[in-house]
Amino acid sequence: MRLVLFGPPGAGKGTQAKRLAEGHSLVHLSTGDLFRAAIKAQTPLGQDADRYIRDGRLVPDEVTNGLVAEKLDEIGHTDFVLDGYPRTIPQAEWLMNHLAEQDAPLSAVISLVVPEEDIVRRLSRRRTDKETGAIYHLDFNPPPEDVPADRLLHRSDDHPEAIQTRLGEYHRETQPLETFFRERSRFVEIDGTGALDEVQGRIGEALAEVRGLGGV
Ligand code: AP5
Ligand code: MG
Repeated sequence: MRLVLFGPPGAGKGTQAKRLAEGHSLVHLSTGDLFRAAIKAQTPLGQDADRYIRDGRLVPDEVTNGLVAEKLDEIGHTDFVLDGYPRTIPQAEWLMNHLAEQDAPLSAVISLVVPEEDIVRRLSRRRTDKETGAIYHLDFNPPPEDVPADRLLHRSDDHPEAIQTRLGEYHRETQPLETFFRERSRFVEIDGTGALDEVQGRIGEALAEVRGLGGV
């Protein structure tokens, strides 16, 4: 399966993409994670991306598409779940053309729908394990007691100003992709509220339907 996991910041894309990747043997490609790894390694790409990410602005399309092209080539365009990509019309157009050239069309776009007040609550108390990449929430999905506190990161873009900028970027640049994907792929909306397992169950049901329709 070739999937896009779509939704606003904090919708649970990373959380559910990890579960999908494990459960369905898909490669998980998160542009946010790739940028953060480049920032940590202090590569030129990371230094460039850091200026945008800190403030909650989108990294330019050419940079982002270049990174995704490289990773898709590496994995051979097989089974993947894209998380946080594409997020602009030019990115989506590039991806659809690129996949068509490789004869590897998308199976579906799964859109997680979560109200804005939940998003702010989710992002402000998120923590990430810097060693394993596991995503936690201090109230809704607390880290196990044996994970030391100094391993838990508060992301540089999870402060109130950057969260508002990210939401603004989402409404302006990313939300218009809904219409694009409804016309160009199979677009499935999933209620992203409720327990993590419930959301996972809903995605599983939707994928079973996609499979039944021959969309694998
Ligand atoms: P990115 O890392 O993709 O951030 P994002 O889209 O803002 O999304 P998040 O990672 O914040 O949220 P998520 O949906 O993954 O939710 P999560 O599972 O963590 O991008 C960061 C930045 O990189 C961008 O702002 C931009 O600068 C740049 N960038 C990345 N891709 C780009 C692109 N394509 N083009 C240009 N620039 C790009 O969950 C959030 C919290 O909620 C966690 O604490 C989690 O435990 C909790 N949670 C999850 N599910 C539930 C649930 N069901 N109930 C309660 N809590 C839950
Ligand atoms: Mg994420």
